[in-house]
Amino acid sequence: MTSRTSDLRPDFLWGASTSPHQIEGNNVNSDWWRMEHQSQGILELSGDALDSYHRYGEDMRLLADAGLNAYRFGIEWARIEPEPNQFSKAELAHYRRMIETARGLGLEPVVTLHHFSSPRWFADEGGWTGPTAVDRFTRYVERACTILHDVNWIVTINEPNILALMSGMAAAVAEGADINLGADVRMPTPSKEIGEALVRAHRAAVAVVHEHTSAKVGWTVAQQALVPAPGAEKLHAELKWAWEDLYHDGARGDDFLGVQSYTSQTVDEKGIVAHPDHPDNTLTGWAYRPDALGIALRQAWEATDGQLPLLVTENGIATTDDTRRIAYTTEALGHLHQAVADGVDVRGYLHWSALDNYEWGHWAPTFGLIAVDRETFARTPKPSLAWLGDVARRGGAPGAQGARAEG
Ligand code: BGC
Repeated sequence: MTSRTSDLRPDFLWGASTSPHQIEGNNVNSDWWRMEHQSQGILELSGDALDSYHRYGEDMRLLADAGLNAYRFGIEWARIEPEPNQFSKAELAHYRRMIETARGLGLEPVVTLHHFSSPRWFADEGGWTGPTAVDRFTRYVERACTILHDVNWIVTINEPNILALMSGMAAAVAEGADINLGADVRMPTPSKEIGEALVRAHRAAVAVVHEHTSAKVGWTVAQQALVPAPGAEKLHAELKWAWEDLYHDGARGDDFLGVQSYTSQTVDEKGIVAHPDHPDNTLTGWAYRPDALGIALRQAWEATDGQLPLLVTENGIATTDDTRRIAYTTEALGHLHQAVADGVDVRGYLHWSALDNYEWGHWAPTFGLIAVDRETFARTPKPSLAWLGDVARRGGAPGAQGARAEG
């Protein structure tokens, strides 16, 4: 194979993703900030993070200069609405400047409205299952729309399935449960009650965004790429519904579905098999599975009856070895090309992550295309950034390794 550029649309998005809490710093009014400080050392602190709140222009310029044409970032509800019904014009103006900065650099902004962190007061009101949840979230979304009028891609809620899992576990911990979150243990299943509440919030938010903008609206699902062991097909279908298909069903009526993929797991007769110890495991303890992206795209396409265009909103690897990042991504892109060649409608590829960011309680797992010195905040692009920018410039030709992956 020489190149599969013809498989991809001419307006294919090539970019990288981030989230506000993981890069901005000092998100002090959020439930996550509070949880970090109450965790008695279990969670590392986000602190100043990467100070991207002030340095977003530099971050975006690095992506644009490398050759990328899109940047997914989030706006932070805890900053925009620090107290119920008190909206900050200054914070909205800040995020508006980010949108304009991206556009000015030739980066298509893909804007996430909620990425795991909420205002403290929202959590105190009962969070997503509280009586005010849908109303509160839609009012925030309505206000956010005042700066989103010309944005083409909007994500309402990032990974509602993981959010349901996190919120359920946070509630269990508050009640005294001792939960081990390691990659080597079988994970609990995301709470159906919270999941259904998130679907309601999402549907209401989509209606608001459709009313106020002409953007394509969707949400992103953490695709587990679950594969059944022989004999475990029934349990696989049940777990796949609880982990993903509840959220795929919740995407009906959307304009696209965000696909987020890192690894793949087997379901046996006892449930999802934890990642076995292996020298190839990534820094998050996950199995090295670049083929997961192909499985994820095909499963998401099938689960939405081939009705929803897919946007890869996250895919990447936690590693200190940038050569490995390039190898992983090359192979993942090979599987993306193959899925497209087989008829799956994929609109873009946004790598996770632009920067080595705060990985929800930990700093060690580095997913970034750009390293950051957390003392000086100096940014150092890794070879993978130039490499991905080059892939983008060539319209997606993945190179020799990608060709091998496609077999
Ligand atoms: C999240 C990101 C996270 C990444 C790697 C996704 O679950 O959306 O915020 O950093 O995966 O764990």
